Amino acid sequence: MSNQVPNQLAVSITGVNFDSPLLLASGYITETPEFFLRSAKRGCAAMVTRSLKENPRGEVTAPRYYVPNGAEYMLNAEWGNEYPWTRWRDEWVESVVQTGKPLIISLSGRDIESCVKLVQAFNHSEIAAYEINVSCPHSSFLHGNNNVDFTHIKNLVIAVKKVATKPVWIKLGYSSFMVDMAIEAQNWGADAIVSTNSIGPGLAIDIETSRPALGIKGGRGGVSGKGIFPIALESVWTLCQKLSIPVIASGGASDAESVLQMLMAGAGAVQLYTEPALHGPKVFGEIQTGLYEYCKGHETTITELIGCSLRWANDDHSFEAQQKPVVVVDEDCTGCGLCVPACAFNAIKMKNLGAGNRSLAVVDDMCITCNACIGVCPQNCIVPTNQIIGETHDP
Ligand SMILES: Cc1cc2nc3c(=O)[nH]c(=O)nc-3n(C[C@H](O)[C@H](O)[C@H](O)COP(=O)(O)O)c2cc1C
Repeated sequence: MSNQVPNQLAVSITGVNFDSPLLLASGYITETPEFFLRSAKRGCAAMVTRSLKENPRGEVTAPRYYVPNGAEYMLNAEWGNEYPWTRWRDEWVESVVQTGKPLIISLSGRDIESCVKLVQAFNHSEIAAYEINVSCPHSSFLHGNNNVDFTHIKNLVIAVKKVATKPVWIKLGYSSFMVDMAIEAQNWGADAIVSTNSIGPGLAIDIETSRPALGIKGGRGGVSGKGIFPIALESVWTLCQKLSIPVIASGGASDAESVLQMLMAGAGAVQLYTEPALHGPKVFGEIQTGLYEYCKGHETTITELIGCSLRWANDDHSFEAQQKPVVVVDEDCTGCGLCVPACAFNAIKMKNLGAGNRSLAVVDDMCITCNACIGVCPQNCIVPTNQIIGETHDP
């Protein structure tokens, strides 16, 4: 696909126009514009800077990042900025603005006074919006959990909205108070909610040394990446039912399918961090192509898809069909047999069938549709019965 983004992908949030719903989220890869400048050529519609702080914070003991082999998630104990915030104001805003794509300035919301100072410092720049970060789980653990502090969110939003000349997005981290915190932010004038930051905190232990894998005091870090996707999706889905302001998704999105799920749950756009951080800017190109093909195939647009799933939110939509055994699509089955040990009920047997004695998986009535075989099948050839019967998206 060329650099020209197809019209079907365009979205608009808080008055800011994006040529696709794919945004680069805040973190070390947005310390400088470099990663975004490459991503912008591959379908990334906008970037959010690293959360800027007025004063540099002390160094954190290394390591600050932990990625297990297989990369299903990442732990981070990110801390101070690598560069003074003034570099954004003096040089880097301009280099992003030149791409013609929106730039969102992320600011730490921990110290309200210095957050307000930085808002004032950027008010005259050609930036599109502010994103105020209320919510890193590791710093919450060490320095107090603003993410569940209703007085803090009220004071923060009032103070920032008083001075900001651009839309103010409030970024929260997942917690059982998240919906109420978001409503509080909305009540005091927030223009959008970004959900969710990395969640946790989480922990990893190096079994050779018995020490935590992260060097931060206490070893705790925020969890991000594919592993948090279902939690992040549910938080978007719930927030979109409770709020009247837009919700921007963040958390675990990694491919076109996960981005589409976030949009259908009601997200106006989707931020990505860990997936491009691990696999590079090409991730945006692959997802953009997937979104385009989906829109084309379903004769729809991204805007039409936003929130289309919410009509199911209060529906008891159990599928009668799912009570029947899963179905193996014979043409695609290679007979690898990986599904057999995944079945606790011995309901899958490999049988020699067809020409050339091909081995195929065959499912019998002992199947309780636990779907474990679907998860381990490398060919994607085992499907729930309702998928065969044909429930399709009807925009
Ligand atoms: C190493 C790292 C650093 C991050 N730094 C910030 C930050 O400075 N400000 C912020 O709001 N979020 C920060 N985040 C959170 C991400 O922007 C994103 O919300 C989170 O990782 C979940 O999305 P993902 O699963 O796509 O990574 C950071 C995440 C990681 C992994």
